[in-house]
Amino acid sequence: MLEHLLKQNKDWARKQIERDAGYFDRLVHQQAPEYLWIGCADSRVPANVITDLPPGEVFVHRNIANLVHHADLNCQSVLQFAIDVLKVQHIIVCGHYGCGGIRAAMERSPSGMVDHWLQPIRDIARLNRDELEAITDEEKRFDRLCELSVEGQCDRVLQSPIVRDALDRGQDLHVHGWAYRLTDGQIRCIADDKKRAEG
Ligand code: CO
Repeated sequence: MLEHLLKQNKDWARKQIERDAGYFDRLVHQQAPEYLWIGCADSRVPANVITDLPPGEVFVHRNIANLVHHADLNCQSVLQFAIDVLKVQHIIVCGHYGCGGIRAAMERSPSGMVDHWLQPIRDIARLNRDELEAITDEEKRFDRLCELSVEGQCDRVLQSPIVRDALDRGQDLHVHGWAYRLTDGQIRCIADDKKRAEG
């Protein structure tokens, strides 16, 4: 039963200790990540791997299509813990081009519970219909919708009472919207404090 995974885990743990004897002891005593990552659950977009960050450096929340629902107890709890307890300085909402969640939201075939989950994407598509309909290439249209959704989720992060309270207290906190490209592994910044200030 999944013995290859357990073996890989043992090998990994052994290699970590060989490289750095104090590795696990240090991690046990401290979790102080600077970043909260809100990303897609897609197996091709693992936060630590694509940012080349070791364990302990990024607090991660992932769900289908990296959505921030105001009533999602899971996501809002993650936000609160990250901000109030871990005191992260940066919240990164990272979408990705070629996201199956974005595509599924725009296709008419019903897929059960996930349809409810993906509703915010359809709302964003409706609000930006003119811009999106002007993009004739379907893939490019979905890519643009991915970016618009990332912006929308950043807004939802900023609207969260947890984030508003932290900003009112003067806590050092920044929200960044990113999009990852599967085809070349590169991340593009879609929205952040600086862009907002300029825009
Ligand atoms: Co995705």
